[in-house]
Amino acid sequence: MIKTFIIAAMTADGLIARDKKHSAFWTSKEDKIRFVELTKRAGVVVMGSSTFETLPRPLSERLNIVYSRTKNFDGAETTQDDPTTLIKKLEGRGFKEVAICGGSEIYTLFMKAKVVDKIYLTIEPLVFGKGIKLFNDEITAQLKLVSITNTQINTVLLEYDVDWGETKI
Ligand SMILES: NC(=O)c1ccc[n+]([C@@H]2O[C@H](COP(=O)([O-])OP(=O)(O)OC[C@H]3O[C@@H](n4cnc5c(N)ncnc54)[C@H](OP(=O)(O)O)[C@@H]3O)[C@@H](O)[C@H]2O)c1
Repeated sequence: MIKTFIIAAMTADGLIARDKKHSAFWTSKEDKIRFVELTKRAGVVVMGSSTFETLPRPLSERLNIVYSRTKNFDGAETTQDDPTTLIKKLEGRGFKEVAICGGSEIYTLFMKAKVVDKIYLTIEPLVFGKGIKLFNDEITAQLKLVSITNTQINTVLLEYDVDWGETKI
């Protein structure tokens, strides 16, 4: 059964970017290492067009799938599929894992569809005060903490399982 994970880095005040055009290069070396390792293991990365447009080029050695209602991009497949349909199609193409790489609209889309099995979250020792939140709509989900890795003095890598069957809140 194919597994879907969200991978994200956020500030201590819960923000993933200052604005739509802000690329994710502000994150730590450890976050980037984990991002490359996990997304290459999955072999497929899914993101929104705003996130894709912050990249200098498509992510190499991974199938790039971009959500857009209006645009097409070189080096990426465009989709408007609902999350369940997209995941089923990717399973049919032989993938065992799907990496959901943001931004906020796409993280929220997949959480609201309740198809996310795991969240890899990096907390960086920064605050932006104002900006784009990890999620942008009401979501109810119970998480189970699987691991905490302290990479530097302040950067923390968290791994959560999402338990859709057990909501205590
Ligand atoms: N810190 C991190 O870990 C991290 C990770 C990823 C991204 N980010 C940051 O997040 C920011 C972007 O996030 P965002 O929430 O503004 O945008 P986003 O999620 O990257 O992309 C939004 C776009 O996705 C498309 N879209 C959304 N829902 C769709 C649907 N159901 N069907 C088809 N297309 C759909 C639309 O594209 P069209 O307008 O083209 O139709 C929409 O404008 C950037 O600054 C980026 O650097 C940070």
